[in-house]
Amino acid sequence: MAPYHPPSGGRGDKLRLDFNENTIGCSEKVTQFLVEHLVENDLAVYPEYSAARRELAAFFRVGEDEFALTNGTDEAIQVLINTYVDDDDDVLILKPAYAMYKFYAEVAGASVREIAYRLGSLAFPIAELLGAIRPETKAILISNPNNPTGTGVDHEGIIRILKRAPHAAVLIDEAYYEFSGVTALGMLKEYPNLFVSRTFSKVYGMAALRIGCLFTQAANVAWLQKAQSPYSVNALAVLAARAAIRDTQYIERYVGEILAARELLYVGLEKLNIPYIKSQGNFVLTQMGDRAIEIRDALRARGVLVRDRSYEIDGCVRITVGTKDQMRHLLKELEDLWRRK
Ligand SMILES: Cc1ncc(COP(=O)(O)O)c(C=O)c1O
Repeated sequence: MAPYHPPSGGRGDKLRLDFNENTIGCSEKVTQFLVEHLVENDLAVYPEYSAARRELAAFFRVGEDEFALTNGTDEAIQVLINTYVDDDDDVLILKPAYAMYKFYAEVAGASVREIAYRLGSLAFPIAELLGAIRPETKAILISNPNNPTGTGVDHEGIIRILKRAPHAAVLIDEAYYEFSGVTALGMLKEYPNLFVSRTFSKVYGMAALRIGCLFTQAANVAWLQKAQSPYSVNALAVLAARAAIRDTQYIERYVGEILAARELLYVGLEKLNIPYIKSQGNFVLTQMGDRAIEIRDALRARGVLVRDRSYEIDGCVRITVGTKDQMRHLLKELEDLWRRK
C-alpha cells in the first residue's frame, strides 16, 4: 500500500489553500457554546449522544435511527467498508478521488478497480462506471462533488448507479455539499443500498474536532454499528456539532463569500492563461504544467499553501477557495511568480 501523507505541521499561521478547509475558522458561536457547556465532570464521562442525535436528525430531516455519528467522514468510509467488504471483494472507486477510499478498501483486502474521470473535462464518467458494475461488486465510493476534480454527478446519474448496483453499498460522499447544493439525502427512503456522508470538517470549519454523519436506512445503521466503536466521536466534537447546526447564518454567509471568491479566482487564472476545471466545491483544480511543483514551493515560501496533485494528473495543482481577500492575495503572489519565467 502507498502510505497516505497527511498535511505537514505548522500550517495554522499560513494561508491554508491546500486541504479544502474553511479558511477563516468555525463560527464563534461554536467556541462560545463549548466554553459555556463544558464542565470538568463532563470530561470524566464517556460521551453521550442522545441530544446530538435528536438535534442532528431534525437538522438533516432524517430519523434518529437513520444515521451513524462518525469520527469524520474518514471513519464513515472505514466503517462502511468494514461492514460490507471482505477480502478480495470487488470495490469500485473513481480516479482521481479522495485518497481514503482506496486506502481503507486496501486495508480491508478488497480488490479495487478505478474508473477514470473523463480525459480533459474531468467530467463524471457515468457510462464507464455503469459498465464496470458487476453482480459481485460490494461497494462503490463516490465523492460528489469530487475532490480534487470539482466535478459532480447529477441525481439522474446517482439513481442509475443505485439501480444498476442493488447488491452494492453505494456511498455518496457529500463533504462539499454546501457549495454544490446537490444531495442524495432525499433518496434514502427509496434506495436501501444508498449511504450518504456529510462532514463538519469543511464549510463548518471544525476539521480538528473530527465529526461527521453517515446516513442510510435504519436496518443498515444497525449493521454499521456492529463494526463501529461505541465512543469513536468525542464529547467536544458532539457539543460543537450541536452549536454549529444552529448557526445556519454563518454557513450561508461563508458559502456566499466562497462562491463569489471562486469567480474571482477563475478570472485571475484566465488572466494568467492558467487552465482550470470549473468546480462545484470550495477548490479549483488548475493546470500548471511542468511548473506545478516549482509554483507550489514558491507559494509556500511566501506563506501560501496549495496542493500539488501532479502525481494523479500531470501538472495539476489544487487551490482551495478562501475569502475574496484571500484570493486576491493568492492571485497577487501567483501572478508575480507566473510571469517571472
Ligand atoms: C471527498 C472528501 N471526503 C472526506 C474528506 C475527509 O473528511 P473528514 O475530515 O470528515 O474525515 C475529505 C477531506 O479532504 C474529502 O475531500
